Amino acid sequence: MKKTGSSVCLVLLVHIVVTNSAPESGIVTKIPGFNGTIPSKHYAGYVTLDEKNLYYYFVESQGNPLQDPVVLWLNGGPGGSSFDGFVYEHGPFNFEAANTQGSLPILHLNPYSWTKVSSIIYLDSPAGVGFSYSNDETDYVTGDIKTASDSHAFLLKWFELYPEFLSNPFFIAGESYAGVYVPTIAYEVMKGIDADVKPKLNFKGYMVGNGVTDELIDGNALVPFVHGMGLIPDELFEEANRECDGNFYKPLSENCTNKLAKIDEDIAGLNLYNILEPCYHGTETDKVITTYGKLPSSFRKLGETEKPHLVRKRMFGRAWPLRAPVRDGIVPSWSQLTNSINVPCLDVSVAYVWLNNEQVRKAIHTAEKSVVSSWEFVSDKISYDHDAGSMIKYHKNLTSRGYRALIFSGDHDMCVPFTGSQAWTRSIGYKIVDEWRPWLSNGQVAGFTQGYDNNLTFLTIKGAGHTVPEYKPQEALEFYKRFLAGLPI
Ligand SMILES: *[C@@H]1O[C@H](CO)[C@@H](O)[C@H](O)[C@H]1NC(C)=O
Ligand SMILES: *[C@@H]1O[C@H](CO)[C@@H](O)[C@H](O)[C@H]1NC(C)=O
Ligand SMILES: *[C@@H]1O[C@H](CO)[C@@H](O)[C@H](O)[C@H]1NC(C)=O
Ligand SMILES: *[C@@H]1O[C@H](CO)[C@@H](O)[C@H](O)[C@H]1NC(C)=O
Repeated sequence: MKKTGSSVCLVLLVHIVVTNSAPESGIVTKIPGFNGTIPSKHYAGYVTLDEKNLYYYFVESQGNPLQDPVVLWLNGGPGGSSFDGFVYEHGPFNFEAANTQGSLPILHLNPYSWTKVSSIIYLDSPAGVGFSYSNDETDYVTGDIKTASDSHAFLLKWFELYPEFLSNPFFIAGESYAGVYVPTIAYEVMKGIDADVKPKLNFKGYMVGNGVTDELIDGNALVPFVHGMGLIPDELFEEANRECDGNFYKPLSENCTNKLAKIDEDIAGLNLYNILEPCYHGTETDKVITTYGKLPSSFRKLGETEKPHLVRKRMFGRAWPLRAPVRDGIVPSWSQLTNSINVPCLDVSVAYVWLNNEQVRKAIHTAEKSVVSSWEFVSDKISYDHDAGSMIKYHKNLTSRGYRALIFSGDHDMCVPFTGSQAWTRSIGYKIVDEWRPWLSNGQVAGFTQGYDNNLTFLTIKGAGHTVPEYKPQEALEFYKRFLAGLPI
């Protein structure tokens, strides 16, 4: 970005007058599509690490930014931009698609934004994702270990730019493949604190939603899930158990494989990310549903949400197709998996239109189009190696060191079903200190929770899919707020 002479002067002046504060050049002064007053300060820009330029969008808390926690948010993929969370899940705005295709969406304030109670850093990671890029393309060949250490380096530099937030409690959160990002970054942060790396982060804990964790446990979680949800009959479940001997992930016999194939047939037509939602097939899916009001009533009633904008019909790039969970090694991109570069349902169009708009890109300080030509929901630039193995050892390590962990699951997600998260949290073997019970939001049962020693909490959100705040925004803000405050949920 070119600076004019006068803005350089302004920047210098500000640096002289105000020391130790956020870079004024990063401030976002207007947000195309939004006509009101921005309810808190927003900043956006890049942190440079060698040839890598990592893009962040930072929203100050609408509560008390001086004291409220700072949360690093990551979407999954790998390759998913964290604008997914900003646009569709817990950002300060609800995005309403314009009536004319391709026009800027209309932005409304989100009454359940997580920025009501925390400041959030939305980070596009690793380089090659969203608006993040590298001048050295070899950086696009990456994996868990490298991404975690880069993200830690990002955080250290970010807090140098925003030192006034160093004393706030700091948390890391994310969902889906960020089930790998979150604990691996948290581990780097912990090691940095132990080694007295400066600046010292006031790290308190982390949150993972429908997170990829352990190949075997997550891989075995689907069959019990589909049985419990009433998607397959008892007989098939019993037969599969008998033939597979509980080992659904790596079937050892042909008979087992046959049973699993039968299960796949039964559930093939469902929306993987929320079994309550319709899944549109074929070319009819290309129809863009532009306003919530135009949705068929059967759809409107599904997964009742307080969020007055459309819930996506179907989502892409968050994880893998059925029964192909996270294996060690190279994780195929969606374009490789689906054999197409086109996303079959155009449900991320609101984000796509907004983030590729010239005015918006200018306003939120992205690189020029000659550098990052377009924003993609899921990047296919990167080649990503899942090289950190199971996350269970990370969770054990972090929680035994006193960092608080919330493992939450939308209980209607079939992509990373709650049965897996429930099983691995239990497998750690900590004493149960808060036995399975309902938790409430607005006087209603919002899901269930089981609390373990060392502040490890497992929580379900009833009726939510893979991206919890998208489906249950009010409930999501509720548990988020309580967890950050260290209160029982
Ligand atoms: C926002 O302001 C612009 C320019 O004043 C106007 O054209 C547009 O209709 C307004 N949008 C809303 C949603 O009020
Ligand atoms: C596989 O199923 C067939 C047909 O039900 C049965 O005859 C056979 O014994 C089974 N094989 C094993 C190894 O269980
Ligand atoms: C945590 O990690 C450290 C460093 O790798 C290791 O020395 C320690 O044994 C681990 N602790 C647990 C509980 O896994
Ligand atoms: C759990 O977290 C609370 C609040 O941060 C803290 O006071 C308590 O000591 C922690 N308990 C354990 C067992 O780590």
